[in-house]
Amino acid sequence: MELPNLSLARKRINKESKVINYQLDDKYQDLGKNKKYFIKTYGCQMNEHDSENIKGLLDSISYTETDNMEDADLIILNTCSIRENAHNKAFGMLGRIKHIKEKKKDLIVALCGCMAQEEVVVNEILTKHHHVNFIFGTHNLYDLPRLIYENTKKTNVCVYSKEGDIIENLPVKRVNDYKAYVNIIYGCDKFCTYCIVPYTRGRQRSREMSDIIDEVNDLVKNGYKEVTLLGQNVNAYGKDLPYGYDLADLLEAVSKTNIPRIRFITSHPWDFTDRMIDVIKQHDNIMPSIHLPIQSGSNKILKLMGRRYTKEDYKTLFDKLRNIKGMTITTDIIVGFPGETEEDFKETLDMVNYCKYDGAYTFIFSPRVGTPAAKLKDDVKLEEKEERLYRLNELINNYSLDSNKKMLDKEVSVLTEGYSNKEGMLYGYTENNKLVNFKGESNLIGKIVNVRITSAKSFSLDGELVE
Ligand code: 5AD
Ligand code: SF4
Repeated sequence: MELPNLSLARKRINKESKVINYQLDDKYQDLGKNKKYFIKTYGCQMNEHDSENIKGLLDSISYTETDNMEDADLIILNTCSIRENAHNKAFGMLGRIKHIKEKKKDLIVALCGCMAQEEVVVNEILTKHHHVNFIFGTHNLYDLPRLIYENTKKTNVCVYSKEGDIIENLPVKRVNDYKAYVNIIYGCDKFCTYCIVPYTRGRQRSREMSDIIDEVNDLVKNGYKEVTLLGQNVNAYGKDLPYGYDLADLLEAVSKTNIPRIRFITSHPWDFTDRMIDVIKQHDNIMPSIHLPIQSGSNKILKLMGRRYTKEDYKTLFDKLRNIKGMTITTDIIVGFPGETEEDFKETLDMVNYCKYDGAYTFIFSPRVGTPAAKLKDDVKLEEKEERLYRLNELINNYSLDSNKKMLDKEVSVLTEGYSNKEGMLYGYTENNKLVNFKGESNLIGKIVNVRITSAKSFSLDGELVE
């Protein structure tokens, strides 16, 4: 048993992480023979990619995947803690699984991801959800075969609160054959006051550049067309390593591989350097689309959030990025942070009017246990928060539509990903990350094609293939 501990997770020690090469113990190889697993993933791309590693691990011990939960011998919930509704969804799912397990006593139920790192969650599971066989943390993915092997009736908890080392060569089963996620940095040291991530994902740890480049080269060899470099704050890449390289150097190195498309998420405005901007400008395979969370347009609220920039700093950076040809910029905004007045909120609307974002994710503040913001007096009424969210979304949607309309009649290059929800249509993404539906044959899936844009809606475009 290794239980999570929030105050330990808060501590940062100045120690380099060791790089460890994962190797499967032979005794686990046939654990999943003739057995099926089902995995449900909540939350961000980091979790999606963790699930790809979990699937890889399970395949390596002879399990096969099923998309029917009732059919599975092993169910894994890969959870998210970022806001309360993510919590509620996972607990709702645990309720459904309880009924399945009543009929199927041998079913193994496991929970992992960010909620596994939270003391309150683990305590609730230990007292109320005895049908969970084991809980494993975000630093313990590689332990999965052992936990299945040692499976006991009583809930086992294997959650390290302190981040461990960087594990290379974990098996991976990628969901997509053309686009791949590549982790470049784990954890986060920013400690924005509302955010639980620095506690659930631990200290900032960058992968070594050569390991990342090896992975990208491998993907190129296997026909991949796009990589997304992943991290909670990719712009801090390299700061924790002794080599002196940063995201600009990494982007330059990745651009020299033959991968046609490079993206990276998420960027914190604090760590964005002019050199990074130059590198993005100079390389055609670095895609012109950046996610740059602003969170609020009020300097008072930004300070309370611990964001380390003012709206003026943000504007300066924003303008430089907007100047890059074809660049689209999206953002995240939180409304109803404790202390946010109507005036503060109007400053956020002013920033949206200034930036005219191409898209945005908007949220109502959700207090997370253990974070400093959860201790602030939450003095904004729920109806007020909902009304602000509504007003904000109206404005954001107008700008998204404007941004899409600018694409009308243009010929753009699209990486075709698969069949669209619309009959007979395919879908894919433009270089600046806009979703396009167009008519085409299945042999185009996985290819980069030219499409002329014929119609623009708030959240997608329609187009025609240019032969
Ligand atoms: N409440 C509401 N939104 C949050 N986010 C992070 N933590 C919280 C919270 N406690 C939002 C931020 C972040 C995005 C991933 O989720 O906008 O950028
Ligand atoms: Fe959370 Fe801030 Fe880190 Fe993003 S940068 S993960 S919002 S602490």
